[in-house]
Order: sequence, then structure tokens, then C-alpha cells
Amino acid sequence: MNPIALFDSGIGGLSVLTHIRERLPGENLLYLADQTHVPYGPRSHAEIIQFSEGITRFFLAQEAKAVVVACNRASAAALSPLRQRFPGVPFVGMEPAVKPAAQQTKSGKVGVLATVGTLESERYASLMARFAGDVTVWEDPCVGLVELIEAGQTDTPETEQFLRRTLAPMLANGVDTLVLGCTHYPFIRPLLHHIAPHLTIIDPAPAVAQQTQRVLQQANLLSTATNNGQTRLITTGLAAPFAQLAQRLMGYEGEVSTAVWQDFVIRSP
Ligand code: DGL
Repeated sequence: MNPIALFDSGIGGLSVLTHIRERLPGENLLYLADQTHVPYGPRSHAEIIQFSEGITRFFLAQEAKAVVVACNRASAAALSPLRQRFPGVPFVGMEPAVKPAAQQTKSGKVGVLATVGTLESERYASLMARFAGDVTVWEDPCVGLVELIEAGQTDTPETEQFLRRTLAPMLANGVDTLVLGCTHYPFIRPLLHHIAPHLTIIDPAPAVAQQTQRVLQQANLLSTATNNGQTRLITTGLAAPFAQLAQRLMGYEGEVSTAVWQDFVIRSP
């Protein structure tokens, strides 16, 4: 059965995969973590477009029936170019959940945690212009946070200190709603909750899973299988640490395979 393929710079997109797994248990899922190139946040649009196209070609060679860009940064840079380059492929992208946050805040003050590339993108500027007119938004590019999470530091004192520093100006200014604008950040949600239990935290992953179902339904591509689908994880980095982290963060017990970049093409060794 053809898989739904997802990618991210690293482990972040697993936070999206978990919701798709829950919503569409009969589907086969194929996940690629581009850990050769993590973090994507500070990289240029052109580079990310190149990576995203290479990954999509790899997915199509694996007969993927749809591609979920499980990364805010890659969606901001590459979603439109991907749709133009591969017109027959159903793509699902994501963006910081500014709209629901603006609707839900009671104080009228919203915080957005995202990577620098997402915050500086045209896509984000357009979101802000459309949905954040009536609220005040505090943004933070969380420089170094993706690296901490990739290193498995989802609950260490160092990460807690980092988050306390990041949240302090937001909390002092009355922010009551926090947008997780990077798919790595749901893994530090317990820590965020510990620091600021009253914050409403918004993760767009459940909405992305719903949108994936909708897109597949429209294209008549939903699996009719009654048994559970398979999940396959691949990294362009090192398999062992990735497997360990996937086990800890989402209870993944399967194998992790590696793939390598050669001249902007991904090959399975
Ligand atoms: N997880 C990614 C996102 O949602 C990017 C993390 C990175 O900077 O690599 O934006």
C-alpha cells in the first residue's frame, strides 16, 4: 500500500506523524528526517527548496501517494515551489497557528515560538497581516532550541532555563496564548506547561492530520485497510541516536534506516 510521506529537518515532524497515525491508523507512513541539514531555521529559502525537492523525488521513488511537509520552516520556503514543480502530488503544509491563537486569547496578547526563517518569511508576514490585526504578538526565534531538542534535552535544567528566559518577557506582558510554530516544540510542551501552567498552548499538528485526511479523501486516496499500517523512519543522519530518540518521544520500536545525499539526490544505501 502506497505510503503517506512526511519530512522535517529532524525529529520535529514526529509530533505531526503521531497525530496522523492516530487519525489514519490504516495508512502506511514513511518519515524522513533530514538530519544532515538540521537545523533548517537559519538556512536560506533557496537551500530549503533544494532539499525539499530532493526529498520529494525520493518519496516519489518510494511511491508515496501524498507528501506532508511536517516542518513550518520548509512549508514557508518550499510549499508553493513544490506544488508548482510536482503538480500531480497532493501536498499538505503547515504554518504557525496565529489565527486560532488570535481567536482564543482573552488578554489580546499572543506569543509565537518559531525559527528565524519562519518568522522572517513572507508566508508568516501574510498570516500576521490577515489574522493578527486585533492582537499584540510577541515573537521569539528560540535560537538553539531545535539543537537542544535534537540532542534529546526535552526535560533538562538547561532547556528549562532557556524556556524561562524566552517566556519571561511574554509572561510579563500578559501573553496568555502561545503558538508552537516549529514541529520540534511539542516535545517541550510539558516543560512549557510546568513553567507557565495558565498558558493556552496551540500546536497545529491535529489540524494538519485532519487536513491530510481531507486532502486524501478529495483525491480518493484514503486507505480502506482495516489492519494497522506500518511506520517507517529514515534519517539522512545517524540511525542509532535517531532510533533512541524516536523510542523515547513516541514509543517507536521499529528499525530506523539511513539515506544519503549525493549531489542533491537522496539514495538509500
Ligand atoms: N521542525 C522545523 C519547523 O517546524 C524546523 C526546525 C529546524 O530549524 O530545523 O520549522
